[in-house]
Amino acid sequence: MTDLTTLETELSARIAAAPDGAALEAVRVEALGKSGAISALLKSLGGMSPDERREQGPRINGLRDRIAAALAERKAALDAAELDARLKAERVDLTLPPPPRRKGAVHPTMQVMDEMVAIFADLGFGVAEGPDIEDDFHNFTALNFPPKHPAREMHDTFFFKPGPDGDRKLLRTHTSPVQVRTMQKTNTPPPAPWIAAGQDPPIRIVVPGRTYRCDSDQTHTPMFHQMEGLVIDRGIHMGHLKWTLQTFISRFFEGEVGARFRPHHFPFTEPSAEMDIQCDRSGGEIKVGQGSDWLEVVGCGMVHPHVLRNCGLDPEVWQGFAFGFGVDRLGMLKYGMPDLRDMFASDTRWLAHYGFSPFVAPNPASGLS
Ligand code: DAH
Repeated sequence: MTDLTTLETELSARIAAAPDGAALEAVRVEALGKSGAISALLKSLGGMSPDERREQGPRINGLRDRIAAALAERKAALDAAELDARLKAERVDLTLPPPPRRKGAVHPTMQVMDEMVAIFADLGFGVAEGPDIEDDFHNFTALNFPPKHPAREMHDTFFFKPGPDGDRKLLRTHTSPVQVRTMQKTNTPPPAPWIAAGQDPPIRIVVPGRTYRCDSDQTHTPMFHQMEGLVIDRGIHMGHLKWTLQTFISRFFEGEVGARFRPHHFPFTEPSAEMDIQCDRSGGEIKVGQGSDWLEVVGCGMVHPHVLRNCGLDPEVWQGFAFGFGVDRLGMLKYGMPDLRDMFASDTRWLAHYGFSPFVAPNPASGLS
C-alpha cells in the first residue's frame, strides 16, 4: 500500500520541519487527532475482512507507533532548544535587592505590657501570673465582695455551669485575684508552674494578664488586658502609692504628666482612689501631658484589712497598696488608636500599621522605645 508509505514520508517530513510546539501540535492533530488521517485508517480496520485485517493491522499500528514516537522525539528536541535559547538570553541580575520579606510585628498590647513591666521592674517589682479561669473565692469573696454584693453583677461576669460540687467557675473579671493568690501562704504548690506561688511579705508584684467581661462597644471588648500591682510591707501608706503611680505614668508617657487622685470605692481597698492624668481633648484627639482636662487611667487604694486577713496576713503588722491599669486603654492613649475593638479583630493591615518591630532592645528608663 503505497499510500501508507506516502503518508508516513509526508508526516515524517512535516514533523522534522515543525519549527515550534504549535506547528508540531497541528501535525499531531492531523495525524492522530480524533479525525486525523491515522485515526481514520485505524477505524477502517473494523470494516475489513479478517484476512485483510491480518495484513493491514500491523502496518497501520506500526505507522501509528512510529509517528507517535517521531512526534515525542521532535517535541523533546524543540523543548531542549527553547530552554537553551532562554538560558542564553536571560541573565540573573545579582545586583537586584532581594524582595522584601514579610516579618511579623509585636501586637501593641504586648508591646505596652513589656513597656509597663520594664518600668515596674526598674522600680523593684516582680511579675506574677494567675489563671484566666478563676473561682468565686479568688475573684470576689477574698477581695471583700460579700455574697450578693451588687458589684458582682456590675462586673458582667462570664460564669461557667456549676460543677458537681456546686462550685461555679468564672472567667476572671480583673487581675486582682492574683493579689490573693500571691498573699495566701500556701503549703501546697501552685496548680500550674506558671501560676504565682504564695509569697511572704514584703511583696512587690505586677500582674499582666487577660480579663473578661460581657461588654462590647468602642471602649469595651469581652476580653481585655489589665495590669495589677501589689505592694505589701511594713509602714506602707498612700504616699508610696502616689509616688509609684506618678513616677510610672511620667516614664510611660516619656515626660512630665500631671496626675490627680480622686476618692472612689473598691471593695478591696480602703481608702480607694482613681488616678486621672492631665490631657488635652481640644483638637479631636487626646494629648496626654498637655491641657487642663483629666482622664481616668487607674484604680487604686490601700489594701483593705479584710483582704489582708482573708489571705492570712495580720493588718496590724502588714499594710499595702494595690492598683489596676487597663493595659489596652493605656496603649490607645500612647499610640493613638481610636477603637479598642480593632485591637482584637486580627486585621493584618491594622497589625502591620500599629505593630512594633520585635527587634528592639529594652530601655527601662523610658519604656521600650
Ligand atoms: N480590679 C479593679 C477593676 O477591675 C481595678 C482595681 C482598682 C485594681 C483598685 C486594684 C485596685 O488593685 O486597688 O475595676
